[in-house]
Amino acid sequence: MDIEVGEVRQIMDWLSSISDDTGPGTTRLLYSPSWLKAQQELKAKFELLGMECRFDAVGNLFGTLVGSKSPERKIATGSHVDTVVRGGKLDGQLGIFGGYLAVKKLLETYGRPKKSLEIISMAEEEGSRFPYVFWGSKNIFGLAKKEDVEALKDGQGVGFVEAMRSCGFDFGDGRARTDIEAFVELHIEQGNFLEEENYTVGVVSSIVGQKRYNITLKGEANHAGTTLMRYRKDTVECMSRIITHCLDKAKAAGDPLVLTFGKVVPKPNTVNVVPGETLFTMDCRHTNAAFLQDFTALLEADMRDIAAKGGIGIEIDNWMNEKPVAMDSKIVGFIECVCQDRKLNYKVMHSGAGHDSQIFAPRVPTGMIFVPSIRGVSHNPAEDTKVEDLCVGIKALAYTLHELAY
Ligand code: GLV
Ligand code: MN
Ligand code: MN
Repeated sequence: MDIEVGEVRQIMDWLSSISDDTGPGTTRLLYSPSWLKAQQELKAKFELLGMECRFDAVGNLFGTLVGSKSPERKIATGSHVDTVVRGGKLDGQLGIFGGYLAVKKLLETYGRPKKSLEIISMAEEEGSRFPYVFWGSKNIFGLAKKEDVEALKDGQGVGFVEAMRSCGFDFGDGRARTDIEAFVELHIEQGNFLEEENYTVGVVSSIVGQKRYNITLKGEANHAGTTLMRYRKDTVECMSRIITHCLDKAKAAGDPLVLTFGKVVPKPNTVNVVPGETLFTMDCRHTNAAFLQDFTALLEADMRDIAAKGGIGIEIDNWMNEKPVAMDSKIVGFIECVCQDRKLNYKVMHSGAGHDSQIFAPRVPTGMIFVPSIRGVSHNPAEDTKVEDLCVGIKALAYTLHELAY
């Protein structure tokens, strides 16, 4: 059951060409025109393969290859269709087009499965347009609340609900799906463990815990020429002190703790004005929930301290707090067996990136398959994986789905 290099290249290039702009890279933000186009064209593609397709209220796409014996029992695969701003051609969409190629190959080789095979093209995972993550997978399990998103706006001031309705979607009834028997997600590693250690497949055992923050500093905007240094309430200075302090602490804490200040918005963001207000983000991750909790509590206290010393006001909004999540040991075992039987060179590992699988795993037996990322580069137009490795990952997925559904 080999997967063809040419077919992988073609579908990858096609899907990543559906982008909000001309690049570099792919930008396909939730409820943007290219997001809608990708979902509609995927639906058409799945239907051509004989799958039954539907959207749920919020725009998750489900394509089902109906099972011949127990169609009500669903084995699902898939990932998220949204990307970060200027993302690559694999994060998220590999799980969708790889799932499609795996199901297509299974159908060609073995005919219809006994249980139904479902490909899910999840609406959103990245939190790149609005400060909310896992909108797709959380809706599948009735975990997303209206109140969580009603007031959200994107960087251009467009409201979440307005954007959703412009694509023809709306809030769902909040009911959780209970018909999915197992979920397996194929994804790029986004780190460099597999490449460095010469493995072709990663079998994920757990996903890191993750906390995200918006931090707002409030000082005073003033004239850059006439305000002597000692009279300033400069929020960029305060932010720099906070960031340097926190990153030093993170480096001292050692692996696997990671800390990122990815977004900085000073106001008024102009050359000759002391920045009177600055918003910045913090993203902190660790495999151990207690460690993550204690470490971020310490950072929060230190940030308040540094701001107070500089006479700057501070608001700390921790808008995301996801605990580390273990994958299902049985599914991990199935994937390991597939790798052993097919002589695939694999490593069991944890994931430092967040994934839709972490929303599935507490509710449905879930597993993840990783393929290596060249130089560990991701969330970047240069994100890449050798096409031969993609083929191996898709093959591992196909055999795992075969194990579960045939
Ligand atoms: C999602 O890609 C993340 O930030 O881990
Ligand atoms: Mn991502
Ligand atoms: Mn992803």
